Amino acid sequence: MSKIKAMLVVGARPQFIKSAPLIKEIISKHTRIDLSIVHSGQHYDSQMSQIFFRELKIPKPFANLRAASGSHATQTAIIMKRLERLIQSANPDVVIVPGDANTTLAAALTAAKLSVPVAHVEAGLRSGDMTMPEEVNRKLTDHCSAVRFAPTRTAVLNLKKEGLKRATYLTGDTMVDALRTVMPTVQRRQSTVLAALGLQTHDYVLVTLHRPSNVDNLSRLNEIQLALRKLSRRLKVVFPVHPRTHARLARLEVLPALRTKGLLRVPPQGYVETLSLLNNASCLLTDSGGMQKESFLLHVPCVTLRSTTEWPETLTRKANQLIAHPRLIPRTVLATASNMRLRDAIRHLRNPFGTGHASTAITRILENMRRH
Ligand code: UD1
Repeated sequence: MSKIKAMLVVGARPQFIKSAPLIKEIISKHTRIDLSIVHSGQHYDSQMSQIFFRELKIPKPFANLRAASGSHATQTAIIMKRLERLIQSANPDVVIVPGDANTTLAAALTAAKLSVPVAHVEAGLRSGDMTMPEEVNRKLTDHCSAVRFAPTRTAVLNLKKEGLKRATYLTGDTMVDALRTVMPTVQRRQSTVLAALGLQTHDYVLVTLHRPSNVDNLSRLNEIQLALRKLSRRLKVVFPVHPRTHARLARLEVLPALRTKGLLRVPPQGYVETLSLLNNASCLLTDSGGMQKESFLLHVPCVTLRSTTEWPETLTRKANQLIAHPRLIPRTVLATASNMRLRDAIRHLRNPFGTGHASTAITRILENMRRH
């Protein structure tokens, strides 16, 4: 039987992580799938892109669209324009798109317009907040996909509510597969950042912030950085700064004030180092989607600086708490970080994200797709 020709399009940091186990499964298990990887170029810095290819042993993409930064429309349009030609010449049977980044939607739209079936990995997530660019991306991608791989039961229900029951599969989450693969390495080695900063386990809170709703509005970002400085007088703060956030903090002229004895600002980190920092933290303060889930899986209490989440499963038993206002940061983080019972309670919660075999399930379904 001839092989299914699949094209996987990735470009933003979380997409590399979500795709790595699927790529490994497809390539190393000699499946009936002939896979080509395309990098949109949305993320281009070494610390935002190359490091993940190295750590997760992702093969070199056969093309890079070099979309880089720009407004959402520009970024999406450039990816679409350059990808169209590639799809036309490669003529894949299916285009696989993971997650909810601009790259996801751009690739899904391009393929759908060329009548090439789209397969969405991490389908069905909903925060209910259409002001988030990711909510727009994930909703539209689901609706133009031919096959949807949902990570959780909640995601399946969300898709059913939108009339997308057909060709929706509950597969589990490929981020669980990725996490399981690297945890032995994380546990074996000492965190480079912790060693350099002289920090001990449970000595600090890990902070990651990059959502436009938090960092693009400078007065809100100013409130956030003041809250972090206040918090750092009571508890050490380790803060790997995303390029978007770095640029806005530079505009506020507060970068030097965010590198003190208690507030340890560092560059964005790779996957292994990030999991290591998270695994040893007393608490996570974040606005990332993926990290809310990773902290749940590693039993680290999480405080999310947002009023909605696309991972409602993490809200069980205060494993993750949503806070809308930056002024709540010091109080909530201090109370959460010192609550030893909470960590133990999270350890005993049921894991709704799957057993680490999502990539196998997805591959089986892709192998049985009909060639178009
Ligand atoms: C994107 C995704 C978001 C994901 C995040 C992870 C969208 C709409 N958002 O947001 O869902 O959680 O990635 O990081 O797709 N930049 C660099 N170097 C890089 C990449 C970006 O300096 O390698 C700068 C650019 O100047 C850009 C800014 O960071 O203006 C934001 O990058 P962009 O890709 O637009 O969105 P993210 O905020 O990274």
